[in-house]
Amino acid sequence: MRMQWLAGAVLGLVCGVCTAQVSTVAPTLAQTPPMGWNSWNHFAGKVTQQDVKDAADALVKSGMRDAGYVYVNIDDTWEGERDMTGVLHANSKFPDMKALGDYIHARGLKFGIYSSPGPKTCAGYVASYNHEQQDADLYASWGVDYLKYDLCSFIPLMDAAKAAHPNDPDAGNKLMKDAYAKMRAALDKTGRPIVLSLCQYGWDDVWTWGTSVGGNLWRTTGDIEDSYKRMSEIGFSQGPLAKYAGPGHWNDPDMLEVGNGGMTGDEYRTHMSLWALLAAPLLAGNDLSKMSEDTKSILMNKRVIAIDQDALGVQGKRMSKNGDLEIWSKPLSGGAAAVGLFNRSSVATTMSLKLSEVGIGSPSMITDLWSGQKLVAKGGEIKAMVPVHGVVLLRVEP
Ligand code: GLA
Repeated sequence: MRMQWLAGAVLGLVCGVCTAQVSTVAPTLAQTPPMGWNSWNHFAGKVTQQDVKDAADALVKSGMRDAGYVYVNIDDTWEGERDMTGVLHANSKFPDMKALGDYIHARGLKFGIYSSPGPKTCAGYVASYNHEQQDADLYASWGVDYLKYDLCSFIPLMDAAKAAHPNDPDAGNKLMKDAYAKMRAALDKTGRPIVLSLCQYGWDDVWTWGTSVGGNLWRTTGDIEDSYKRMSEIGFSQGPLAKYAGPGHWNDPDMLEVGNGGMTGDEYRTHMSLWALLAAPLLAGNDLSKMSEDTKSILMNKRVIAIDQDALGVQGKRMSKNGDLEIWSKPLSGGAAAVGLFNRSSVATTMSLKLSEVGIGSPSMITDLWSGQKLVAKGGEIKAMVPVHGVVLLRVEP
């Protein structure tokens, strides 16, 4: 870690803004995948300051904060206009950002915000292009702890760079990397440890360079939707990216849809189990002030959260696939493993797991993480009925 810090400091001195920016202020941020709430999936452009305060209160009251959900992240549409000095002001939906930050912090939570490296955000609001340091300073003055930096209107600038350098097919991507490194440097200059979330939908294999520009997490795909089809398309495609994730730098298959109403309980358990196996950030995206008991039990299953947050920080991957039946596993600290038996078909099906394939031939304990029951293997195998679009998630102890 110290070496990483030194390397970052030296690179910062040598090249200023360049594509090898390691955070010098916050080398220990996001040691486990960030957990919290984000306004976009439920509130989208309608989010207000009151909604965010309500979310903060609900995180505390529901027990989610104590289960690990600490970031309260405002997504797009909080931005107003810049004044004569270039300082950005929030719009009328957010009358007092400093007070909002204080409100969030007073509840033992952390404050997240959203912008774009381009002139506008994805929803067309004012963004940080040419005002990076000014915006970073503003966020720090409000007590911001997390920035989601969404590419969107930077894309035309990348296209212009490509057109200006026809012999350099990478000109656009270089500009993008520099834009992310520039914001990392600006955040660091504030002296406040701020998590940087790269949102550029997985372009140019971001997982191979996200860490080098100081990203703590990076979106690997386009937007999630509250449907089994889209959630499973994203989640089940993440296996090959496993080796790029680790403490401080995570693959982000997008925010959770649990509780938004478009999937069955079994489908949401699949969503949560898969994200936990993927060591994905767990950013709830529902209206926390109106949660059913089922939603709470999915978001707050501590056994499942422990899989996501396991200190080893290894992302899981697919072990086997037999038609619509898939087995995924994730190594855990202490030699344990999490195993998910997923049934993507539309018929409830019995699935079996050979424990030798997990590398733990004689486990001391096997727990079904959704029911909490202990299971006993027969002939070195576990058999379980897996519901339609559902999962049986196991923890296997050596
Ligand atoms: C993009 C992002 C979403 C959300 C919206 C906001 O689509 O991928 O997660 O932030 O912008 O406009």
